[in-house]
Amino acid sequence: MNKDFLALSDWTLEDLESIFSLTRELKQKQKEGTPHPLLKGQTLGMIFEKSSTRTRVSFEVGMFQLGGHALFLHSGTTQMGRGEPIKDTARVMSGYCDGVMARTYSHQALEEFAQNSYVPVINGLSDLYHPCQLVADIFTVTEHKEDYRNLKYCWIGDGNNMANSWINAAALVGFELRIASPKGYEPDKEIVALAKKSGAKILLTNDPREAAAGADVLNTDVWASMGQESEQQKRAKAFTGFQINADILKLADPEAVVMHCLPAHRNEEITDEVVEGPQSIIFNEAENRLHAQKAILATLMAH
Ligand code: CP
Ligand code: NVA
Repeated sequence: MNKDFLALSDWTLEDLESIFSLTRELKQKQKEGTPHPLLKGQTLGMIFEKSSTRTRVSFEVGMFQLGGHALFLHSGTTQMGRGEPIKDTARVMSGYCDGVMARTYSHQALEEFAQNSYVPVINGLSDLYHPCQLVADIFTVTEHKEDYRNLKYCWIGDGNNMANSWINAAALVGFELRIASPKGYEPDKEIVALAKKSGAKILLTNDPREAAAGADVLNTDVWASMGQESEQQKRAKAFTGFQINADILKLADPEAVVMHCLPAHRNEEITDEVVEGPQSIIFNEAENRLHAQKAILATLMAH
C-alpha cells in the first residue's frame, strides 16, 4: 500500500477490501471489549485548518483505542499559521510523530506535506477529496447490502469533495454512480474524465429524479462546504429541487438506503423526515468513521 492516503486513487480494490476486513475485525473487538493495541506507543499528529467534529473525535478516540496517542493542532495556533513552509513543518513533525492526519483547504498543500513527510499522511478532508469518509461510507453499505459492488449509487447535490471521492470510488470498485447537480455545480471535470477513462460507470445529470430512479444508495451533502459560507444564499437558490426527500425516495429502490457524511442542514439538502426515517443509515455511517479509520491507521502506521 502507498505510504500516504490522500485519495482513493492511492489504493487498489484489494487494498480497500483488506481495510474493510480489518475494519470489521476491529469493530467487533471494540464492541466486545477485546483490547487491540496495534499502535502501542505511537503518536498521530492531527492538523486542522477547518472545523471538525467527527474527524477529530474519531481519529483521536481511534488512536487511544489502538494504544497510541493523538495530538490536536489547529494550524492557526502553530507556526504554519505564521507562514512556516509546509516542507519544513512536514519534516519536523516526521521527527516527532508516527503518522499525520491533516484537514486542509488546498489539496496541493496536503500533497506537498506528504511528499516531505517521512511518516504516513492521511487526508482528513481537503477541498478536493474526503477519502476516509468514503471508506466508512462504503463499509457501511457492506453492512446493509449483500454485494456492495453491484449496486446503483446516486449523489444528489454539490459536485464537491465528497462527490469527487464518490467518483474515485466508482472507478476503484466499478459500481454504477449517477450524480445530479445543478448547472455550474458539477463535479471536477478532470476527475470525472480520469475515472471514465479507467472504465467507471458514471452518469452526470442536472435532473435529481433521473439520478434517483431505481437507486440502491442515495447520498448528499451540504450545498455550501467549509470555506463557501459567503455563497450560502446564492447556492440555496441554485440547489432548489436538489433535496433528498420522501418524493425522491419513492423513485429509488424500495430497499434503498440513505447516507450523508454530516453535518447536515436539515430541510435543505435532506429533509428531517428522511434523516430520521427507516431508510437512513446516516448514524451507522458516522460511527463507522471510527472503525474504518482505525483500520487505516493500523495498516499505514504498522512498523
Ligand atoms: N463528516 C465529517 O468529516 O465531519 P466533520 O467535519 O465533523 O469532521
Ligand atoms: N463538503 C463538506 C463536507 C464536510 C464533512 C465540506 O467540505 O465542508
